[in-house]
Amino acid sequence: MLEDFIQELPKAELHLHLEGTLEPEMLFELAARNKVALPYESIADVHDAYRFSSLQEFLDVYYRGASVLRTEQDFFDLTYAYLTRAAAQNIRHTEMFFDPQTHTERGVPFEIFFVGMREACQRARDEFGISTHLIMCFLRHLSAEQADQTLTDALPFAQDIIAVGLDSSEIGHPPEKFGEVFERAISLGFKTVAHAGEEAPADYIWGAINHLRVSRIDHGVSCSEDDDLLAHLVQTQLPLTMCPLSNLKLKVVDDLSNHNIASLYKLGLCVTVNSDDPAYFGGYLNENYAAISEALALKARDLAALAINSFEASFLKDEEKARYRNEITALLV
Ligand code: ADE
Ligand code: ZN
Repeated sequence: MLEDFIQELPKAELHLHLEGTLEPEMLFELAARNKVALPYESIADVHDAYRFSSLQEFLDVYYRGASVLRTEQDFFDLTYAYLTRAAAQNIRHTEMFFDPQTHTERGVPFEIFFVGMREACQRARDEFGISTHLIMCFLRHLSAEQADQTLTDALPFAQDIIAVGLDSSEIGHPPEKFGEVFERAISLGFKTVAHAGEEAPADYIWGAINHLRVSRIDHGVSCSEDDDLLAHLVQTQLPLTMCPLSNLKLKVVDDLSNHNIASLYKLGLCVTVNSDDPAYFGGYLNENYAAISEALALKARDLAALAINSFEASFLKDEEKARYRNEITALLV
């Protein structure tokens, strides 16, 4: 029954890596199309390889997977497939990450991937009515100079990029490393977000707040370690885009019943539910809602509050946020 309610809920997704939506079937199709060798013989082999014990183990497999993406058509197909699934889950709005350096480092130019993704967003908006924003992430294991070059490469496309973000290997690459490039992005009119507190301690979340001037924290699991930070997050309502099934798969938590999303919600933080890299973590957005409702005994009104948060935390206009809030509230009466 709760499954039907989750399906019916209008939702926004705010933490979703487009490269993380590459399903094994498409991985094989694109590898054949582009004559890229894969270390897998079958879909079953792929599923075997998707057992991770840390973020880094996942990232190694994920970057290898992304190497089959070569042409504008590939990026169109990837993005359109995700948006088709998203619309079918009643996701009304999605703010998607992409990693330019994963592609430019392999010689795929910015306009190839960006134009493919942008065309798919337009097609999906026309066909399904889903709205989208694109967020360009810098890979934090690479240098600040490389991030700065990526920002320069993005300038011809800046009007279609709402924000810059920060992802990849967290520990050892604190937010401060990217303070200057984020300042430049802000001065150019981009909003900012950053992955912080996924595997690293709460200091990294403070770093993203103080040095990157973020509008949201992506993950933020480790905020529970720091009472001052919790008080700050309640007071400012700075959102956390949390990803329960991702955290389970990457061993950030040992069991979903120990995930802090429900306790943070009850404390009054603005937390949201997201799928991160659904092709790798065993579930899209509705599966994440269903998993936490079961593991953490969340009721329909809690899930509705989380869905309202997803719109509140988005980069949509206030009128659109209010429209979704009213639509969700009406489902509860
Ligand atoms: N890139 C894709 N998924 C990621 C995650 N969960 N953390 C950091 N970087 C990522
Ligand atoms: Zn992520």
